[in-house]
Formats: sequence, C-alpha cells, structure tokens
Amino acid sequence: MAVDLLLGLQWGDEGKGKIVDVLTKDYDIIARFQGGPNAGHTLEFDGIKHVLHTIPSGIFHENAINLVGNGVVIDPVIFKKELDNLAQFKLNIKEKLLISRKAHLILPTHRLLDAASEASKGKAKIGSTLKGIGPTYMDKTGRNGIRVGDLELSDWKDRYASLRDKHIDMIDFYDAKIEYNLDELEAEFFKAVEVLKALTFIDSEEYLYQAQQAGKSILAEGAQGSLLDIDFGTYPFVTSSNTTAAGACTGLGVAPGQIAEVFGIFKAYTTRVGSGPFPTELFDEVGATMGRVGNEFGATTGRPRRCGWLDLVALKYAVRVNGVTQLMMMKGDVLSGFDTLKICTHYKYKGKLIEHLPYNIEPENVEPVYFEMKGWSEDLTKMKGDAKLPSELNEYIEYLEKELNVPIKIVSVGPDRTQTVYR
Ligand code: IMP
Repeated sequence: MAVDLLLGLQWGDEGKGKIVDVLTKDYDIIARFQGGPNAGHTLEFDGIKHVLHTIPSGIFHENAINLVGNGVVIDPVIFKKELDNLAQFKLNIKEKLLISRKAHLILPTHRLLDAASEASKGKAKIGSTLKGIGPTYMDKTGRNGIRVGDLELSDWKDRYASLRDKHIDMIDFYDAKIEYNLDELEAEFFKAVEVLKALTFIDSEEYLYQAQQAGKSILAEGAQGSLLDIDFGTYPFVTSSNTTAAGACTGLGVAPGQIAEVFGIFKAYTTRVGSGPFPTELFDEVGATMGRVGNEFGATTGRPRRCGWLDLVALKYAVRVNGVTQLMMMKGDVLSGFDTLKICTHYKYKGKLIEHLPYNIEPENVEPVYFEMKGWSEDLTKMKGDAKLPSELNEYIEYLEKELNVPIKIVSVGPDRTQTVYR
C-alpha cells in the first residue's frame, strides 16, 4: 500500500489540519514528518475548535494511528500541554499516538538560543515562532542533538547537561542579552519528559514498512508550507526543515517510489506570518478585509498574518517541486464580496516579464503582474458536499486548474469539517 502526502503550498497556515481531519476517515495511519510546535493545526467540529502543534491531526478519529516521525522536533513541554488539552476526550493515547525514537528533542536552551539569535538580528530577524526550531535542527545536523530514544538510556541526563552547558556559552556569546530562569525552565522540562516517557516510542521506519506490507493506508501530514522549505523557500526567511514532498521520505523513512497521491493545499489568496518577501502583499483595505474575514491570526503565536492576492507564479513552483497530483483550495468563502479579484500570473523581475520563481524575490527586484477576474457576492459558508458554487468562483477555479494543470478536488468554505465542497 502506498503513502499519500498532504502539503501546504504557500507560506503555511493553508488549513492542512482541517483537511487531514476530513481525509482521516480514509486512512489507517496519519504521520507528521517535519517541523515541530512552530505549527498550529486548527480543527473545528461539533462547535469546538482544537489547535494541535505536534500531534498529528488524525488524533480525534477513533481508528487512526497517529505517528510523530523521525523528522519532527518535539518540545516535551508543549507536547504535554497538547496532551493535557486532549485529556477531556478520553482517547487511548498510549495506543493511538506513537513517537519515533529518532525524533529530536527541543530543550529549554534551544528556545533561549532562538530568542537570542532573533534579538541579535535586529531588523533582519526571521520572525521565528521562537519555539527553538532552528537551534534544534542545527544540533541535529551538527550531530549534537538528543533524540527521543535517548530518553530510554541511563545516561541521557549527562548528555543533556553537557549540551545545555554548551548552549549557555552560546547564549552568552550573542550581543542581545535575554533574561531567563533556567531552574524553572528545567523543572518544567523534566516534568514534561516524564509524561513523554509514558508514551509509546517506536522504530517508526520499521513500523511504517510493516504497515505498508500489511496493506495499511498512510497519510503523511506536512507542516508549514513549501515557500518556508529550507532549500526551496524564500531563504533565509524560512523554517529549518524540508516542508516539500521529499521531506516526507527523509522524515518518515518512506521510499520515494512508495509515494502515491500528493495533495497540495492552498488558500484562495495568500498569507504569510513573520518576515520575508511577499510580492502580492496588500497594504490597503482589501488586505485588511482578507485578514478580518479570514481571521488571519497565527494559531501558534497569535500574530496577525500579512495578506495578499493569490500568487500563481509561486503556486506553480510549489506544484512542480512537490509533484502535486490533486489540489484543495481553502478559504474560498473569504473572497466573497470583492467586485474584482486579482491573480498574479507573472513577475516583472529586474525589468523583464518572467513566469517562474527566481532566486531572489525581494521587493526591489519583483513587481507582480495581475490577471483580473470578476468576483462573486454569495455567502458560501453554508455550502457543503456537492453544493453548486457561484459561476464566478467556478471560473476562478477553472482558470487555476488550467494554469496549474492539476485538478482542484476540494473547495473549503469555512473552518468546520462540514463546510467542504467536493468537485
Ligand atoms: P520557525 O520555524 O519558528 O523558526 O520560523 C521561521 C519562519 O517560518 C517564520 O517566518 C515563521 O513565522 C514561519 N513559520 C513557522 N511555522 C509556521 C507555520 O506553521 N505557519 C506559518 N508560518 C510558520
């Protein structure tokens, strides 16, 4: 049995959590493969809103196993909070939630290093979520990290202490001084580690291999978006993992040939949190309306998201880098009420008209060129299932399908599970 992928194609926050939740009924296993608690996956059903950070979005489905893969970085403190929030649902966490021994741990000092690094960058800061993601992946690739499996060894606290001491020297090295109480942070961390240790740790690549042999269906759930990929995103304003399709192979130990469907999720417009270039960003009332109607505030940090028109140049790039086979368009409802809609089809790059994402999309190099379409005014939020979409929205969708050469199978018209139109 093959593995399907679900990926965000923009700068994150496309609504992956909702779609994983909608799709989970078709899968036996939902697996996260990269990122960590910088993600905030929002799910809404039965009138309740749930935000998950590290735990895969299939956790509320009775029969699905949820796996945190080797490519993920785990902060025990945030993980414990997520588990505390789930306690009311009486889920069998020990059986439903499995954790790769090869996943790396975010230590309290990783978070402090993130803060010190950002503070010292001044205006050039990445706009990190300050969850310690960058420093943890740096220790992973620097071969210094502490992994979940280490918690089963008797000397892990010694290894922890030597890495912590090194981090403290590094924090002192930064010009920007940050205040912290390490005793408090460590007390909280060790308490949370005990909770983590009570969960089920596995050799996840072997588990997934056996699951495939046994005909189980697997959905790999991406976090962040393609434009935040460490290699293909808008570097250096990116996250520290591969958010694109290949990241699922390294983040789970799944062979490339095993990947079947690649579901690509995008919003009907574009948003970004944190710093970095954003060619179609709007600074006017239109952008403000998108933010207000779309409730565009970060699920992890609460920061307002920057909003702008759909960037087809960037979307094409993401579709190609990931080999997307099916598209899902989110937040169609938010575009209701605009007389005219704009889609960026080209960039004017250093004076020339181009259709691909160049090396550098800083504002001084790039001016977006738009195609305009007529908008619609109908409220879409009551639509579900096979509802008939307004003709202007169908034209918008068909235009994108033609340009991207990939079908758009789902149009989401609200945050609830039921506000989903299938095509
Ligand atoms: P970091 O991953 O916390 O280091 O943040 C790096 C950049 O990625 C910042 O611009 C963040 O705002 C952005 N980022 C990280 N995670 C997410 C996410 O889940 N959604 C949207 N943006 C994210």
